Amino acid sequence: MGKLLGLPQRLLFSGGGGGVLQGSTCEAVVCTLAAARDSALAKLGHENIMKLVVYASDQTHVTFQKGARLVGIPPSNFRVIQTSASSGYGLTADAVRAAVDHDVANGLVPLYLCATVGTTGLGAVDPVRELGRKHGATACGCTSTPRTPAARPSARSSKAISMAPSSPIR
Ligand SMILES: Cc1ncc(COP(=O)(O)O)c(C=O)c1O
Repeated sequence: MGKLLGLPQRLLFSGGGGGVLQGSTCEAVVCTLAAARDSALAKLGHENIMKLVVYASDQTHVTFQKGARLVGIPPSNFRVIQTSASSGYGLTADAVRAAVDHDVANGLVPLYLCATVGTTGLGAVDPVRELGRKHGATACGCTSTPRTPAARPSARSSKAISMAPSSPIR
């Protein structure tokens, strides 16, 4: 899968990286959220879990919201960023920046941005590479097929990638 995406050698098992096959995207999302949470709380202290904020678009699969609740992110710290036809219903860096800046100004800690390459409802593509460059938060790309051309460069900008192939991989 890593080779299919053209990931750098260091992210493949043979280069010291690696991945795990999960039973569903929901499980994969829970794993990456838990890893991001633990990494943040190791620095902040566990008592600060109520400060962690996660971000998604209004097109993100509901599985991300469920996953966030399962790892202890309070629903009040789940941000749904509105999209519109002008961006093809994908996230824009400006909208993400506005949400993040607002939270930081209120003493909260941005933890995780879920970006999707091929949303379930509309097939919208979030600009993962641009978001990964401009935001420190973890980006997670969920795609409908690893052959989606946009998935390949996008995958290299994410800290965690969840692939949900809907067609056979050849
Ligand atoms: C983009 C995306 N994310 C998450 C899911 C949920 O997948 P699962 O049922 O494997 O948890 C789907 C399912 O269609 C999806 O298309």
